[in-house]
Amino acid sequence: MNHKFSILLAGAALLSSCSPVQESMDELADRVFSIAAEQIKATDARLGETELPRTTGKDGEAVNSDYRWWCSGFFPGSAWYAYEYTGDANLKDIALKNTLKLAGIPDNVDSHDIGFMIWCSYGNALRLTGDTSLLETIHASADKLCTRYRPGAGIIQSWNARLGKDWICPVIIDNMMNLELLMECSKLFEEPCYAEISVSHADVTMGNHFRKDNSSYHVLDYNPENGEIRHRHTEQGLADESAWARGQAWGLYGYTMMYRECGKDEYLAQAEKIADYIIPRLPEDGVCFWDFNVPEIRLGQYEMVKRDASAAAIVASALTELASYVEDAIKSEGYLAVAEKIVRTLASDEYLAKAGENNGFILKHGVGHYRNDSEVDVPLTYADYYFLEAVIRLKESME
Ligand code: GLY
Repeated sequence: MNHKFSILLAGAALLSSCSPVQESMDELADRVFSIAAEQIKATDARLGETELPRTTGKDGEAVNSDYRWWCSGFFPGSAWYAYEYTGDANLKDIALKNTLKLAGIPDNVDSHDIGFMIWCSYGNALRLTGDTSLLETIHASADKLCTRYRPGAGIIQSWNARLGKDWICPVIIDNMMNLELLMECSKLFEEPCYAEISVSHADVTMGNHFRKDNSSYHVLDYNPENGEIRHRHTEQGLADESAWARGQAWGLYGYTMMYRECGKDEYLAQAEKIADYIIPRLPEDGVCFWDFNVPEIRLGQYEMVKRDASAAAIVASALTELASYVEDAIKSEGYLAVAEKIVRTLASDEYLAKAGENNGFILKHGVGHYRNDSEVDVPLTYADYYFLEAVIRLKESME
């Protein structure tokens, strides 16, 4: 064999042993949004006038909700992101039509989740269209959310008293997410009290909800008159002392968002502490187990433990934003690398639906309420919403 030929053969062998070239983030985003656009259009086509998608039931059929379900804003929000990415006017019509299904919220919903519902739907609508006719509902929703503020404790009450529960004023870590509506409305309507309420809630939560290792409890029950804590427990996690994955994700996103909104250094530090709790506990592919303390994880029996694509998507989106605020370049690159790993896994066949499948949802394998055997290993509209947001944010961070 002549020398030149043997070099060629060696080169070919080397090439064939290399893994295929990794898809660029632009290519990944194009692929994800092409599937998302088809799924959103198919979902919209099957919805009745007042219906919004929720999940897949145990019989495999699509389950819908009306606007009063806490997740009602996520489908319109996903449609807004898909419109933003693709510029497809049909998606804009779908986004607006489904946003307006939530118009009854300020009059008919009394829930801390009003922030999720309205800011993901109407908030994105306002951002992308500038249509001032949306402002009335947004303003009334912020007012309604503030009726749940308990000044004696300095927090917004999450849930109402419920039969069989020893609750007076329960506050869940998830509630951090609802502050975005108030912070944005404080600027929009020049109402400082919205921001004051949000900052108070975030400060009190920072002082009470977190353990020494920077993981958070799910539920704290307060005495609303004086802020004393009656008990700390979980509803959706494995145990009172465990770290429910989505709760950690809401905290990470919530403090990152609050830093963006008001620039308070303590919020940035809190977000970093939460990130530093989450990241070393992620599995190799980055997609969280539904609770970080499921015993099988410690035993290495990973296949026994459900993943939660929703928590993963929220973490990816939040880490991408957090990376843009931290000054330490190595830390920032580390956060982005984890976010990218999560997004690439969620964009793989294991998690990302094929167009026409998965009842029109975008991601598979979310966990709603594991201990109640409710919405386990199913699509969830909030997984889809934060995944699309993460893809947009990550792509922009690389431009
Ligand atoms: N906020 C409810 C949940 O995350 O399941």
